Amino acid sequence: MCGIIGAVAQRNIVPVLIDGLRHLEYRGYDSCGVAAIVGGTAWCARSVSRVADLEQQIQNTQLVGETGIAHTRWATHGAPVTHNAHPIFSHDTIAIVHNGIIENYENLREGLRTDGYQFVTQTDTEVIAHLIYSLYRGDLFSAVREAVKQLHGAYAIAVFSKDQPHRVCGARAGSPLVVRLGQQENFLASDTLALTGSTDRFIFLEEGDVVELTLDGVRIADRYCSLVQRKIHMVKAHGSAVELGPYRHFMQKEIFEQPQAISDTIAQTDAFDPELFGSTASDVFNEINSLLILACGTSYYSGLTAKYWLESIAKIPTQVEIASEYRYRDSVPNSASLVIAISQSGETADTLAALKHARALGHSHTMAVCNVVSSTIAKLTTLRSMTHAGTEIGVASTKAFTTQLVALFVLAVTLGRLRGHVDASLQAHYLKQLRHLPSALNSVLALEPHIIAWAEEFSCKENALFLGRGMHYPIALEGALKLKEISYIHAEAYPAGELKHGPLALVTEAMPVVTIAPNDTLLAKLKANIQEVRARGGQLYVFADTDTRIVNNEGLHVIRMPEHYGLLSPILHVVPLQLLAYHTACARGTDIDKPRNLAKSVTVE
Ligand code: G6P
Repeated sequence: MCGIIGAVAQRNIVPVLIDGLRHLEYRGYDSCGVAAIVGGTAWCARSVSRVADLEQQIQNTQLVGETGIAHTRWATHGAPVTHNAHPIFSHDTIAIVHNGIIENYENLREGLRTDGYQFVTQTDTEVIAHLIYSLYRGDLFSAVREAVKQLHGAYAIAVFSKDQPHRVCGARAGSPLVVRLGQQENFLASDTLALTGSTDRFIFLEEGDVVELTLDGVRIADRYCSLVQRKIHMVKAHGSAVELGPYRHFMQKEIFEQPQAISDTIAQTDAFDPELFGSTASDVFNEINSLLILACGTSYYSGLTAKYWLESIAKIPTQVEIASEYRYRDSVPNSASLVIAISQSGETADTLAALKHARALGHSHTMAVCNVVSSTIAKLTTLRSMTHAGTEIGVASTKAFTTQLVALFVLAVTLGRLRGHVDASLQAHYLKQLRHLPSALNSVLALEPHIIAWAEEFSCKENALFLGRGMHYPIALEGALKLKEISYIHAEAYPAGELKHGPLALVTEAMPVVTIAPNDTLLAKLKANIQEVRARGGQLYVFADTDTRIVNNEGLHVIRMPEHYGLLSPILHVVPLQLLAYHTACARGTDIDKPRNLAKSVTVE
């Protein structure tokens, strides 16, 4: 999604802005731009290509400036063409970059048109630019504070006025914005990643805040227009997160980081203690009689997998809903239910809105399973389970997913213990299995060369079916999603028992059928499903636990996984599916870390 960076300094900040944009590229974008004040004039460059193209334009013009803003845009209002790329201007004076959507922009635009303002873009952003210009009397901070009072919707903005150099203002509502404090220089961005350095001092702006950056410091006004002080956080440099190291893509790097990410996520889990989730967790867990999980995308699939654990280990009724559906349907609230929002970023607009909707319906018990401690979702909930996946850059989520699974498994065992379904010896067994998981994952990662050979075959396919049963069905869904997202091969996942109710009609020699075959209680049923596909000439690609004794045969290609890993088996089985999608996409030459039309953090509806 869109990314923002802004800076004031006594040095040329254009390279800082470009570097920031490079670090925001992972979020997904279709155009980009930069504006700086140069000798009392606002100068601007835009590109509908990559940040590298923008950089080239800047090198050609040898632009230098000490005040500037920059943006990566993911089009919502107006096509991704040069004139809609941000920064957007009003009267060559006010320059603005904007994330989010202004819901009342049509009304505002009509009013401004009546006042003689002309619109040259199809964006909602131009309305904000003109609005600020109309209120500007030489004090940008005051004009921005007045302007945002009229905006409805979600936004983060950064603005400068060409006649106030060394001053950039920002505002946020529903979209994150952070400030990095420097020595006689200050910065603003939508994501700390855009502002790398050594250990840095950051302020995470709160809902409704308006900020003014100058060389000497920052001023912040809250939603009531009162000047406030916000806490300064020390944030460690993201150095290694934004370096590829020996890997070809961030997705590959992040797949291989999973053993470490899981190890970091369970580092605090010595016992399955409710305190892990917050100081009030014990009381909340004793009060609740069900769970309602809300999430989008890959996070939704981690919720679907967790449902199997929560109902089997903790025997607690669990409902999992796609956030964008839940927020708009009539549901029956249960105040004794714990609402769990799962979100890697903690900023996904639909998940956030669904959480707020649940609260408005009277759900007071809320929990976040989240990877970003400073995120809106993590701040909004009373309980928290933080994953420690580190920064995930690849748009296709991998390590965030497996760390969410681990966090949710810990929750299931904790609830199971409190509800009297998990005794001490079972706890010790689950703890041992969790601790061994990173090394079990390493042995799955070692299968990469075999998977590369399959990926070559997959790269010339246009369709694929994924089958799983029980708690591996959501893993099949995730495997199909990964393949779609980055290789653009159409893929569908089914619970294998549903095969004969429709998808079997699609099975021919041209249709690869990826099958997850753990050695669990459903194995005999799954073997029967495999035969149904073979009998129709389908080509099966089976990830089989070594103790299943499924072996290569005509039409049956097998990669042997380690021995069955019990309830944690889904975490092992998703990894080869990630690798299959990754290497298939490599063979097809797609832009793996930035797949077309997709964004890392979907902060608009
Ligand atoms: C986008 C990303 C997915 C992610 C989903 C939910 O679609 O491309 O990888 O699963 O958003 O994101 P969240 O940050 O809420 O987990």
